[in-house]
Amino acid sequence: MVVNLSEQHSLISNWVSELRDTEVQQDRMRFRSNLERIAEVIGYEISKTMPWEEKEITTPLGISKCRVLAQQPVLATILRAGLAMHSGVLKYFDRADNAFISAYRKHNPDGSFDIHMEYMSCPEIENRIVIISDPMIATGSSLVKSIEFLKAEGAIKELHIVCAIACTVGIEYVTRAFPKATIWCGDVDDEITAKGYIVPGLGDAGDLAFGAKLQG
Ligand code: URA
Repeated sequence: MVVNLSEQHSLISNWVSELRDTEVQQDRMRFRSNLERIAEVIGYEISKTMPWEEKEITTPLGISKCRVLAQQPVLATILRAGLAMHSGVLKYFDRADNAFISAYRKHNPDGSFDIHMEYMSCPEIENRIVIISDPMIATGSSLVKSIEFLKAEGAIKELHIVCAIACTVGIEYVTRAFPKATIWCGDVDDEITAKGYIVPGLGDAGDLAFGAKLQG
């Protein structure tokens, strides 16, 4: 299932428009903070789908029967572009366990690229709800590889994918690999370049958030 949050007007559309804007992009802190804010709101939306339990809470004046999350999710992200969105989701699920995956595109001279996986730090994920942040779903190949990496550690109960902009081909690829996953995105674009950049997209999210890197 895909939830495109720009289908209903909300502040998400404003933040996505700022992410895309070459002038606003000059402000790296604002770029990161817009990714973070989008992820916070998506985290809140995801929380509505999660199981709750009743808990008696002692207030200074009595007992209140409150509803609280029945289970903490595992928040995962792919280094380095996913860090700002991860931080947004973590602000809301502030007791969650966290997983970090290092995956990167190794570009070949002909313009194609391969996805290299290097490292993962992962808590127990068996039968847990996993929320993975990746700001741009372009081809979807690094995301699918990263989730497969995670799934090798245990059977995931429910999978939520958080992104700022998803491309239709990437959505199709990810949905084919994980039909039960929910993709939550700030917006959807239809085009992708031969080098795997989304059009109109916003450019390289990792570079815009953290600065240009030396490696191709
Ligand atoms: N990753 C990015 O940062 N931007 C794209 O357009 C595609 C993948």
